[in-house]
Amino acid sequence: MPIKNRLAETHDEITGWRRHLHENPELMFDVHETAAFVVDRLKEFGVDGITTGIGKTGVVATIKGKTNTSGRVIGLRADMDALPIVEATGLDYASKVAGKMHACGHDGHTSILLGAAQYLAETRNFDGTVVLIFQPAEEGGGGGREMCKDGLMDRWNIQEVYGLHNMPGLPVGEFAIRPGPLLASADEFEIVVTGKGGHAAAPHEAIDTTLAAAQIVVSMQSIVARNVNPVKRVVVTIATFETDSNASNVIAHTVRMTGTVRTLDPDERAMAEDRVRRVALNTAEAFGATAEVHWEEGYPVTVNSEQETEYAIQAARRVTDKVDTETDPIMPAEDFSFMLEERPGAYIFLGNGDTAMCHHPAYQFDDDAIPMGCSWFVELVEARMPAS
Ligand code: NI
Repeated sequence: MPIKNRLAETHDEITGWRRHLHENPELMFDVHETAAFVVDRLKEFGVDGITTGIGKTGVVATIKGKTNTSGRVIGLRADMDALPIVEATGLDYASKVAGKMHACGHDGHTSILLGAAQYLAETRNFDGTVVLIFQPAEEGGGGGREMCKDGLMDRWNIQEVYGLHNMPGLPVGEFAIRPGPLLASADEFEIVVTGKGGHAAAPHEAIDTTLAAAQIVVSMQSIVARNVNPVKRVVVTIATFETDSNASNVIAHTVRMTGTVRTLDPDERAMAEDRVRRVALNTAEAFGATAEVHWEEGYPVTVNSEQETEYAIQAARRVTDKVDTETDPIMPAEDFSFMLEERPGAYIFLGNGDTAMCHHPAYQFDDDAIPMGCSWFVELVEARMPAS
């Protein structure tokens, strides 16, 4: 049976929640209204315990099954935050907050987990405990990391953890997943190169910082081409390049560049950092300039554990026969990775059909995906903790 009847019945109600959240997007940890909305719904469902303020503004709630002979505890996670984007969908329920938009579908994820929670609290047709995790600040703030730092896994005794993300381009009604790395790590860096500014007509009296910095940009490309094992995946991108010269007849004194390193492999991640540093420092030196490198470690690789991926696949197959179990990894990052570093678990992509990509002003979450997502969470719970 694909979609549970009850979830077909609640589809409109859940869609209403989703559109309400869509109209009222909040950023990063500042998701107070969203968290309050989540708490109000959970109270209506009659869940067993609600704790707020985990990871600053995260919400954690529990639902106990009819029995608890298994002692099993499964965490289900959704993200609540939006993006600083001006919405360009023209929808009648478009964002009412200027410059903020649910452009990654986290309104959908939150509503899907609420829909699953409503069903699970009504039926409780399982033997064990479900922990609902609603996290803030997925978009760069590391809300998942903050919830883990607040003791999420130990306080609620979570043994396995699961999450989903909508995927534009994958048809609605389909799932995609793979064991092992699914999303990349994302580190950021800033390089400041300092030479000696001067008159553009007298380069011999200056140290041309722009030339040194340009050479660093070019040499950085050798990291992926020449240092990375060709069967591994690494991205090194210099994204910004700013000189402090404002005139065509002035050689710049400093150049500031920023960029990112993405990879699916922890060893390659460390290697790439080392190479970025050495290429910057030594290339600058070769030109008589100096370079400073500031490194900011971001989200780790999102790694699906083997066994839990199998459970996730089985649950998806009870919803639909369209489950891609060997999807390609992708190079964005996801802070569910912090939870997967602490516990085994799996992250799955839920088809969102033909729309603009996530983080695009014209992106649209497809409400037809809601019952698929709810059903996946519910099937996972009922199969991992079968009622006795
Ligand atoms: Ni997202």
